[in-house]
Amino acid sequence: MSQSQGGKKDQIRVRSFRRPVIPPPYAKQVEDNLKDVKYKIAVISGKGGVGKSFVSAAIALALAKLGYKTGLLDLDIHGPSIPKILGIRGFKPYAVEGKIEPIQLAENLKVLSLELLLEDINKPIVWRGPLKSKAITELLYMTRWGSLDYLVFDLPPGTGDEPLSIAQLVPDPRGAIIVTTPSSLAGTVVRKAVEFCIELELPIIGIVENMSYFKCPVCGTKHRIFGEGAAKEVAETYNLEILAEIPIHPDLSKALDTGTLPQLILYQEDHEVTQIIIELARKIAEKTRQQEEAQP
Ligand SMILES: Nc1ncnc2c1ncn2[C@@H]1O[C@H](COP(=O)(O)OP(=O)(O)OP(=O)(O)O)[C@@H](O)[C@H]1O
Ligand SMILES: [Mg+2]
Repeated sequence: MSQSQGGKKDQIRVRSFRRPVIPPPYAKQVEDNLKDVKYKIAVISGKGGVGKSFVSAAIALALAKLGYKTGLLDLDIHGPSIPKILGIRGFKPYAVEGKIEPIQLAENLKVLSLELLLEDINKPIVWRGPLKSKAITELLYMTRWGSLDYLVFDLPPGTGDEPLSIAQLVPDPRGAIIVTTPSSLAGTVVRKAVEFCIELELPIIGIVENMSYFKCPVCGTKHRIFGEGAAKEVAETYNLEILAEIPIHPDLSKALDTGTLPQLILYQEDHEVTQIIIELARKIAEKTRQQEEAQP
């Protein structure tokens, strides 16, 4: 490798992760558009398929149920699943005065996903880096959220370019929730996600362990099918809290498949999964409030 190439590589490696990636006029527009949103929360994971979209949707529903004005923005361009989970596939958001109105799903909950803006949801989006970043920027400044207590972002899986640019595009994010499962890969995966947040100076609200166990419906014994301890170890190392352990539950699987998660979380208060999710939302509200109080 030539000297000049080596120099360039070093420059790239040492550049700050916090360097703004949006050109100033857009950065200002995004900031203006989200100025009445109190807490912006990103839900991330080190790998795909761990239940990130489910956790994002569940948290948003539960915060809304607790009375907080909440928004949920699905920023997973290639695999948006929020509309399916919430049963709003095919809903078309209105545009008013050049701004997109999110779908009002419940009294306190507004939702938007890129999927709802597509002509044909069966065609894959083949955008590459800059175009994706442009689309995300536009969604951030063209959606009329109004005033919100919480805006929850469902990010694409992993800790690669996309979550990185999204984390950089969202102004003043108040925290990340890291979702993981207890599989053998979990330790590495959570560590990666934690390091990603540290690099981005994104405060971590805590870890949610999904698919933690299966509770026998007959005897009530908890079977930890995917093992245990991996997330706990990372939580202890980085002094983080495990905010919830969510079981694998057939009712949940059914609700996610049939788009009836809102009914489960909003109306089935006695369901064990609903109770865990509501408790999780309470903890998030408490943690963000503490964070606010600790601010100078
Ligand atoms: N606790 C659970 N109990 C039963 N099924 C679950 C549970 N959590 C997630 N699932 C199922 O696992 C699958 C993956 O969930 P989800 O789409 O939320 O993951 P994800 O991390 O967002 O995936 P991706 O990386 O593709 O965005 C879904 O089919 C969902 O129905
Ligand atoms: Mg997802």
